[in-house]
Amino acid sequence: MGPFRKKDTVFHNQSCTGVHLLIRFCLCLFVRVVFTIDANQSQQRRKQIEESGQYGDLCFSALRRKNIMRFHYQSHYHQPLKGEAIAGLFLLLFPVLLPCLFTPFTYASPSTFSEWNVIKPRHLSLLRSALEGKSSNGEQSDLWTPLADQGWRLCLESVNTPSLPQNSEGYLQVFLDGGLNQQRMGICDAVAVAKILNATLVIPYLEVNPVWQDSSSFMDIYDVDHFINVLKDDVSIVKELPDEFSWSTREYYATAIRATRIKRAPVHASANWYLENVLPVLQSYGIAAISPFSHRLSFDNLPSEIQQLRCKVNFKALVFVPHIRALGDAIVHRLRYPPGETEALSSDYLRVTTGQNDKQRPQKFVVLHLRFDKDMAAHSACDFGGGKAEKLALAKYRQTIWGGRVLNSQFTDEELRSQGRCPLTPEEIGLLLAALGFDNSTRLYLASHKVYGGEARISTLRELFPLMENKKSLASSEERARIKGKASLLAAVDYYVGMHSDIFVSASPGNMHNALVGHRTFENMKTIRPNMALLGQLFLNKNITWLEFRQAVAEGHQNRQGQLKLRKPKQSIYTYPAPDCMCRA
Ligand SMILES: *[C@@H]1O[C@H](CO)[C@@H](O)[C@H](O)[C@H]1NC(C)=O
Ligand SMILES: *[C@@H]1O[C@H](CO)[C@@H](O)[C@H](O)[C@H]1NC(C)=O
Ligand SMILES: *[C@@H]1O[C@H](CO)[C@@H](O)[C@H](O)[C@H]1NC(C)=O
Repeated sequence: MGPFRKKDTVFHNQSCTGVHLLIRFCLCLFVRVVFTIDANQSQQRRKQIEESGQYGDLCFSALRRKNIMRFHYQSHYHQPLKGEAIAGLFLLLFPVLLPCLFTPFTYASPSTFSEWNVIKPRHLSLLRSALEGKSSNGEQSDLWTPLADQGWRLCLESVNTPSLPQNSEGYLQVFLDGGLNQQRMGICDAVAVAKILNATLVIPYLEVNPVWQDSSSFMDIYDVDHFINVLKDDVSIVKELPDEFSWSTREYYATAIRATRIKRAPVHASANWYLENVLPVLQSYGIAAISPFSHRLSFDNLPSEIQQLRCKVNFKALVFVPHIRALGDAIVHRLRYPPGETEALSSDYLRVTTGQNDKQRPQKFVVLHLRFDKDMAAHSACDFGGGKAEKLALAKYRQTIWGGRVLNSQFTDEELRSQGRCPLTPEEIGLLLAALGFDNSTRLYLASHKVYGGEARISTLRELFPLMENKKSLASSEERARIKGKASLLAAVDYYVGMHSDIFVSASPGNMHNALVGHRTFENMKTIRPNMALLGQLFLNKNITWLEFRQAVAEGHQNRQGQLKLRKPKQSIYTYPAPDCMCRA
């Protein structure tokens, strides 16, 4: 029983005081200095610095405690010590020298956690009841039943199949920011804009996101030939610009103002805006490059063939490269046919669908998308129960990254929670699932990049759902070699597994959540959409009983299991594909 077991760690941590803090402080300064000052870092090194930045947080907290500010400033004038060798050695020895500083970290990313504050479950009495298995009987059966047919079909070819224009007006280039799913929407919009302009689309350029740091190109993620082929009757698409336009590169646009770059496309611009502002550029120069392009095409007032084309790109043309699909299939297969009595994972890499255990009845599983990284935690400005150190660390991060621009920080934690503006913690999403009737035999796949707080934060969820898996637990490092460290490819695998699960649930609204809600709606698959405002209010009531909680949760989620919702004006067609791309059967 984890929450109770944690006392040991608390006790353990209390011994890390005084001298330990001082030593820790010196060590982190050392690591910080060695890593930060050296110029010319490769990407890998930048990552290390991010990690050492985390030690940096610890340094600051330790600093405040000991009031030795001067020491800190002096240290910044130190010359960097030579060589990573020393730093590496130090990092290696660090845990050995001071094991007590590392005890709470076992699994997942030992992210920025001030270890002397153990994350305690915040809803202990609910958690106790949930752990006693006071969930269901009977509920289980319809929990897993697939969605009934809701009487909607996709209708992409219904309208008069628009054909390719006779002549292309020129080449359209777009540069896309964001992570995997934001870029995905940008790709769909780019095809639509190319269609509006009768332009030839150049395969979109994916910018490297400062948070995710993945330089994977379109072709590294998506099957480009499939993409071009599916859309061949709608839009002409080329992989690269012809030689005469080869000057039109990202670097070219980064260094000066250029006539062929459209820099000021308004958010959610209309089709007319493109005809008035981009078409003339295409006609004069034969090329137009739009950057930034994310969220630059309206969801409303567009011809239905354009809307349907967007859906066709999203749901038909964009498929992941074969190696991602193969890894995804392997993971899905291992979730459906857990080793159990038969052979364990063993070494049959990627050899799926024909396993000897196929005679077993396939198991059902839930994919839980848990985005709970520092970025998101800080941006929400909510309190996640990590105590003062966590609050300070998040406030500092917020200040550094966004300055005063995070409006949420004007509200108290209670206000934010009751408005449903706080991402659910792993503990809270666990309680939600338990209250809905999922018991400890539920197979849960955790789609998650990095959890702020590491295993300490996940442990409560794991107690509720011991059969919790992820990419790492289900695929060997050889199998994961091609996606290792690549945020977009890792997310693509999770997307793929998410599209093959019986149930998908996301702990926080966001691009991944929206993308899967839309895609699963399109396929009529069950998706639980947490009622954030309701849950926020329930969790604020410290007196609530498990029974009351369960009833309120069940009621508040009856209509949030994947029932089709029609798109309202301004809403995204990629989240709500009906009625634009779906028709009543
Ligand atoms: C699941 O919970 C029940 C109590 O409701 C317990 O007896 C059982 O051991 C648990 N199973 C696992 C795998 O933890
Ligand atoms: C695009 O091509 C179609 C048919 O070839 C034509 O009807 C339409 O006016 C063209 N649009 C633009 C913006 O050139
Ligand atoms: C919770 O219970 C305590 C004592 O029973 C009571 O004083 C308090 O008002 C209750 N709070 C809520 C939100 O019901």
